[in-house]
Amino acid sequence: MSGYWQRVAEIDEVEWPDSAVLICDRAVIDSAPQALRGRVIPVDGGESLKTLASIERLAQAVLEIRASRPLCLIAMGGGSVGDAVGFLASILWRGVELWHVPTTLLAAVDSAHGGKTAVNLGTAKNQLGTFWEATRTVFAESFLQTMPRSLRAEGLTELVKALWLGDAAALDVLDLVGSSELAFAPYPAVGVTLGRLLDAAVAVKHGIVDRDPRERHGIRTYLNLGHTVAHGLELCCQAPHGVSVAWGMACAAQISWQRGLLDAESFERLIRHV
Ligand code: GLY
Repeated sequence: MSGYWQRVAEIDEVEWPDSAVLICDRAVIDSAPQALRGRVIPVDGGESLKTLASIERLAQAVLEIRASRPLCLIAMGGGSVGDAVGFLASILWRGVELWHVPTTLLAAVDSAHGGKTAVNLGTAKNQLGTFWEATRTVFAESFLQTMPRSLRAEGLTELVKALWLGDAAALDVLDLVGSSELAFAPYPAVGVTLGRLLDAAVAVKHGIVDRDPRERHGIRTYLNLGHTVAHGLELCCQAPHGVSVAWGMACAAQISWQRGLLDAESFERLIRHV
């Protein structure tokens, strides 16, 4: 993972490739790196970006800025921007370089890693997609510092999920500091711990993806812990993804405990963490 995952204080610390074209969520356009001004395509993040028609428009916009190799597409925004730009990077000229610059904790923990790209087909989510690994994922702490605490809490659920899947020592930190504190305390009080836990969660995700990159051996599906119930909640209640995953993990833990697959102590611990 060395050189791939870069956590910086400010986005302008990053050295961008000369071949970069930045596709940036309009919501964070003011934070677009100075060095890439003039090579920025603003988009509206969200599910409307994840259609084949949007991908076609995006491809045309990219070609107006740069029509020959080398080309590095940089996706800056939340999960929908990463999914759509990743998809475009995988099919434009049969594949160009991709960097992710997640601006939500949810994307920084999960969707910006592991190479899944996707667009929707009608109302069915993520029906078309490819595996296309980013060569670099950059996360600026300034985003974590300024994001609403509800969004920090949402991202934490995927972070807690990853730690439960593979980092026992980090779970002790969660016990010590408390997930509520991590979610809702003023940033300076928890920023350093959050950064370390984020690194740990990213390492867990990569460890799992490396063992089953194309999700063919049932190992990568561990990352879907809690997601069966979560997707139901999203569909039925329009609940945000992070909130749904928290409830989904709680349900999975309850079912596992009732079936004797999880001991009472671990069950109570997981419920405390989510
Ligand atoms: N978000 C689950 C995965 O990347 O497989």
